[in-house]
Amino acid sequence: MILIDGKKAAAELREELKNEVSQLKTKFNKVPGLTVILIGDMTPSQIYVRNKEKSANEVGLKSEVIKYPDTVEEKTVLEKIEELNKDDTVSGILVQLPLPKHIDKQKVIETILPSKDVDGFHPVNVGNLSSGYESSVPCTPLGCYLLIKKIEPNLSGKKAVVVGRSNLNGKPMTQLLLKENCTVTITHSRTKDLKAECLEADIIVAAVGIPELVKGDWVKKDTIVIDVGINKTDKGIVGDVAFDEVSKNAKALTPVPGGVGPMTIACLLKNTIECFKRSQI
Ligand code: GUN
Repeated sequence: MILIDGKKAAAELREELKNEVSQLKTKFNKVPGLTVILIGDMTPSQIYVRNKEKSANEVGLKSEVIKYPDTVEEKTVLEKIEELNKDDTVSGILVQLPLPKHIDKQKVIETILPSKDVDGFHPVNVGNLSSGYESSVPCTPLGCYLLIKKIEPNLSGKKAVVVGRSNLNGKPMTQLLLKENCTVTITHSRTKDLKAECLEADIIVAAVGIPELVKGDWVKKDTIVIDVGINKTDKGIVGDVAFDEVSKNAKALTPVPGGVGPMTIACLLKNTIECFKRSQI
């Protein structure tokens, strides 16, 4: 069984991105910039944002974090986004989710210029991805995709089962696999026989938020299994895949932590650089 080392893959990707930023600096005499807006002081969000900032600095991006208290008015946030939209030194804008209840998430997402939407959440980017056009792609599914391609460069005709249908993960993951000519089944909490669906799969991406849902006898030999889950349980953080059981059958499997997580942040940096390059054409 191949234990997919997301930390190593992310470090390699960051190294590539660092070289690319250095070349862009020589060519354009400026570097891509990422601005993150963080509202409130929820600890997990703060940790994510700190990691994002650290990684952005490591590859040589210009990075800025704008913090607001969780009482901030929606109007203030929307006006800040409008200002960042006009700022040439800002290539990418990310508003850390979740947001306080009084702020309309969709309004926030739709205020970000699609060309600066490094999350790939704007409906224009969602539409472009599903139509097969150039777009920002949400960072987590993009990270999963790059890990899968490392194990199996030719995905054409493979059967892929995506467990979970969220806008953040399941749906964009499906689009990426379709683009690679996989036959994709998207499953979710109401799917009748999830085990039977998974047993058909050459590739399983589990992104449903149910601890250790995917069991050892759900996975046939030679399946690549990608675990997006991060679930807090009595035994600590576990994924959506029963790791010990599945590792006995799968061809390759991502651990939690140390699998998809590190790739997500590296992909955010990649998206920022892509936005910068598109803005220079
Ligand atoms: N919160 C948790 N994951 C994400 C993400 O990918 N993007 C944003 N904006 N917020 C998040």
